[in-house]
Amino acid sequence: MNILVLNGSPRGEQSNTLKITRAFLEGISSQKKTNADIVDISKAEISHCSGCFACWQKTPGECVIKDDMQNLIPKYLDADLVIWSFPLYYFGMPSKLKAFLDRMLPTVLPLIELTESGSCRHPSRYDMSGKRFILISTCGFCSVENNYEALLKQFEILYGERLTKIICTEGELFRVSQREKRTGEYLSYVRQAGKEYAMSNCITSDTQRKLSEPLYPPEVFVQMANASWGISDSHEIDERNG
Ligand SMILES: Cc1cc2nc3c(=O)[nH]c(=O)nc-3n(C[C@H](O)[C@H](O)[C@H](O)COP(=O)(O)O)c2cc1C
Repeated sequence: MNILVLNGSPRGEQSNTLKITRAFLEGISSQKKTNADIVDISKAEISHCSGCFACWQKTPGECVIKDDMQNLIPKYLDADLVIWSFPLYYFGMPSKLKAFLDRMLPTVLPLIELTESGSCRHPSRYDMSGKRFILISTCGFCSVENNYEALLKQFEILYGERLTKIICTEGELFRVSQREKRTGEYLSYVRQAGKEYAMSNCITSDTQRKLSEPLYPPEVFVQMANASWGISDSHEIDERNG
């Protein structure tokens, strides 16, 4: 099984999210022979899409910008499984990863199709029917609500039924050694999720439930997080800012 991991964290190897992704890969490879390629998107040379539409008209399927996307698009197309691994940034994906996504435009056709629900879409230039996708993301807050909605909608539109999600709130706890017992427990559920995914292309509802539970209750987390920044309450912030 060819797996492409798009590591979209600017922290590269130090990414909280990548810890979860690596545990998921361990789970998959314990069941199946895998070949995983982890690409550090933040270090890749990826220019912004210039919106010229040459990839639709002048040079169909090919971008006029010559950079790392020339290698990354074939890797994406060759993979059986693409894992998007990144932190939530302002309710969306980090900007470099968004540049990667925008530069995928050559992989779709200019043709606009109407879907059954009456919305529009561009069909893919390539057969993507056997390909599957996983979204693994961490964030700094303790809730999915009022935080992940925009991103989850974007991925639902992009991949529909072929998408599996692991969303972990309170992600900064993965770098706190005193919290290793709890984060280690979470990573063991992620390994289990990887095993299940290797066997059935999905994660059981029991494991998904464990993955969706916050690492700590909101009140406890907020107190720990504020203490880690040396802040105890909003009053203290006001005082510091004069
Ligand atoms: C520029 C920036 C924007 C962020 N935006 C959000 C956000 O909208 N919601 C949230 O819960 N956390 C947000 N965070 C926190 C990160 O998602 C969180 O620290 C994450 O665990 C980092 O993961 P990584 O180590 O994989 O990069 C933001 C962090 C940064 C640096």
